[in-house]
Amino acid sequence: MNPQREPGTGQFRQMLLADVREIALIERRAYAFFWTEGIFRDCIRAGYHCRVLQVPHDPIQAYGILSAAAGDAHVLNVCVREELQGHGLAKQMLDHLLDLARSVQTQTVFLEVRASNQRAIRLYATAGFCEIGLRSGYYPATKGKEDAVVMAKELPVHHDKPSGGRNFFNGPR
Ligand SMILES: CC(C)(COP(=O)(O)OP(=O)(O)OC[C@H]1O[C@@H](n2cnc3c(N)ncnc32)[C@H](O)[C@@H]1OP(=O)(O)O)[C@@H](O)C(=O)NCCC(=O)NCCS
Repeated sequence: MNPQREPGTGQFRQMLLADVREIALIERRAYAFFWTEGIFRDCIRAGYHCRVLQVPHDPIQAYGILSAAAGDAHVLNVCVREELQGHGLAKQMLDHLLDLARSVQTQTVFLEVRASNQRAIRLYATAGFCEIGLRSGYYPATKGKEDAVVMAKELPVHHDKPSGGRNFFNGPR
């Protein structure tokens, strides 16, 4: 089976414990500081939204993990199999995670991304995420530590009366 075949025709489904070994292999090739199999298992067991994109019976194309509680959600991981990057799969996965966030009445979605990961920052900015801060020395790096860019996106909530909810983007930072 060729993972490069028709990258756009995959389907979303729940990530299973049985997927973790394959996912960890994709993860190792994608990140210098990768999550272990145990972290993926913990995310599944914790009940996070752990999703994979796959043409049935073909290799997994991409995966994404979102935690959501009490009106806030966090994108914890979005990753595309190395040879399938640049075909819009991350955008599909992110849109899917945002749909899941909306389905559980999320008001604000947050994420952290390495300051050097311009590709991912552009992906998130294109999807409407705004930079709301910087966490200094948040990530391990080959030399020392690396900053995290903190990004957030508000999801429209439909109220009968004007919302008194938070809005991160109207006030001064
Ligand atoms: C970052 C990553 C998820 C992007 O996946 P992808 O499938 O290549 O992204 P897409 O093809 O869906 O592109 C979506 C957007 O990402 C950005 N992007 C994708 N490839 C890019 C590139 N080579 N250069 C700059 N921006 C790029 C663009 O904004 C693009 O939108 P556009 O095509 O409208 O300009 C992928 O490179 C990856 O898995 N990297 C390793 C894991 C990682 O860093 N994850 C993010 C941190 S959690």
